[in-house]
Amino acid sequence: MRPALQTTCPMPDRARPIVIIGAGGIVRDAHLPAYRLAGFDVAGIFDLEPAKAQRLAADFGIPEVFPSMAAAVDAAPVDVVYDVAVPGGAVLAVIDALPDGAAVLIQKPLGRTLAEARAICTLCQCKNLTAAVNFQLRYAPPFLALRDLLDSGRLGMVHDIQMQVIVLTPWNLWDFLAQEERVEILYHSIHYLDAIRALAGDPDGVYARVVGYPDYTGLADVKSTTILDYGSNLRAVVSANHCHRGGLTHQESYLRVEGDKGIVHLTLGLCLDYPRGQPDRFEVCLLAGGAES
Ligand SMILES: NC(=O)c1ccc[n+]([C@@H]2O[C@H](COP(=O)([O-])OP(=O)(O)OC[C@H]3O[C@@H](n4cnc5c(N)ncnc54)[C@H](O)[C@@H]3O)[C@@H](O)[C@H]2O)c1
Repeated sequence: MRPALQTTCPMPDRARPIVIIGAGGIVRDAHLPAYRLAGFDVAGIFDLEPAKAQRLAADFGIPEVFPSMAAAVDAAPVDVVYDVAVPGGAVLAVIDALPDGAAVLIQKPLGRTLAEARAICTLCQCKNLTAAVNFQLRYAPPFLALRDLLDSGRLGMVHDIQMQVIVLTPWNLWDFLAQEERVEILYHSIHYLDAIRALAGDPDGVYARVVGYPDYTGLADVKSTTILDYGSNLRAVVSANHCHRGGLTHQESYLRVEGDKGIVHLTLGLCLDYPRGQPDRFEVCLLAGGAES
């Protein structure tokens, strides 16, 4: 029997309390259900729209809804982790309002421009924050399994990585995107770029092209093709089309990693029929002497 694949992350010995800034869709659909599953304690929440924070507090049993950012900081437990889940343009101001030395999880994008990214990094350093950006895909169970296969040499030398997304994304769920100069990579494909970096390391360079789509006149771009340059022996590409109207039958959302000893084809179900999603699938083909086994 083949050994089981590693699909879990190490958990903290003692979970620290969390204060959430921003009570939007991602907090409702992902953060709070995940914290509940993990048994993490949410001490309180603040949103510029108090009614949204109140609704979430009622639905998830959060004890405190703070009336302001300052009140959230004042009342936060000593060893708190701030979970900042606000639109990209609000990150800098929220980080600025945190106390020196705080621990904070920041949503992507880490800056909507290079200048803003540098300003956020500088501010984190000046305030001595322990800061992380919420790139969760590299820790998702199928990615951990893939990592395990790679680390144990079972896929051999990797020569091809392809992330392919052909889906219909309901961009209307995120009003704030209409003001953004860059959309697809910063708000979606960045996760794939991060996950590929976690698998293959930093590329020598990156080439990318984004394009728009006539039905999304308010959005700067909604499709992207990115080549990660790992030299002449590894092809790595992320290709994303969010405007596919052919129905679920012809939608695609997969990562394929090919090595000289084996191949993984991983279907990421969430983006198919979003936000309902479809199940993930993890398929492995090990090659014995170059042939399928
Ligand atoms: N990691 C992921 O996979 C993932 C997925 C979806 C969204 N996100 C990121 O999460 C962020 C929020 O996304 P969302 O879908 O929840 O958006 P949303 O529009 O549903 O919610 C954003 C919330 O932030 C609040 N807000 C704005 N400025 C604020 C401020 N200064 N202080 C407190 N609250 C403030 C808004 O009132 C709103 O309720 C975005 O940056 C997005 O990129 C990450």
